[in-house]
Amino acid sequence: MSFKEISVEELKVNPVTMFSEGWAVLTSGNPESYNGMTVSWGAIGEIWGKASMFVFVRPQRYTNEFCEKSDYFTVSCFNGKHRKELSFFGSKSGRDYDKFKETGLAAETDGDFVYCGDAEIVFLCRKSAKTEFRPENFYDDSINDCYGAKDYHYIYVGEIVKILVKN
Ligand SMILES: Cc1cc2nc3c(=O)[nH]c(=O)nc-3n(C[C@H](O)[C@H](O)[C@H](O)COP(=O)(O)O)c2cc1C
Repeated sequence: MSFKEISVEELKVNPVTMFSEGWAVLTSGNPESYNGMTVSWGAIGEIWGKASMFVFVRPQRYTNEFCEKSDYFTVSCFNGKHRKELSFFGSKSGRDYDKFKETGLAAETDGDFVYCGDAEIVFLCRKSAKTEFRPENFYDDSINDCYGAKDYHYIYVGEIVKILVKN
């Protein structure tokens, strides 16, 4: 798949529906060992003077182990395409399957980064911070409905170091 690099200034996406409707694969690790999972929650913006990506990962995800260990993660956005493959990435664990192999989605590398070659837009991110949600910090009680298992998301923040868009 061929991509071209664009600057943050050239990026034209709806930052809400890019995740909520379009879905994405969060991939972390390195070219020798990596894993990816579907995400439909995420955020993009500016913090600490850097264009940054925010992803929300429940502690039990295999992908979380890679996010903890690796300095890098990528967010491959699909704009609603490859739904079947992303449903697999979002329901099966990399502990049990090589999801790229099973679905046929291409794992591409760029230096230490691994991303989905079939995506429409890819964000290559250098991990800058990790924090977590705590129930005592929720102002809206209804948020607790998302955490029946008390598996509060970790929040990984990554500096966006490269943006690739499909040619
Ligand atoms: C549409 C969709 C969106 C998802 N969004 C998230 C998310 O933002 N954060 C998260 O922790 N899990 C999310 N999941 C669940 C994970 O993708 C799923 O548990 C996956 O199987 C984890 O794989 P892993 O164990 O290989 O990491 C989502 C699943 C789907 C189908």
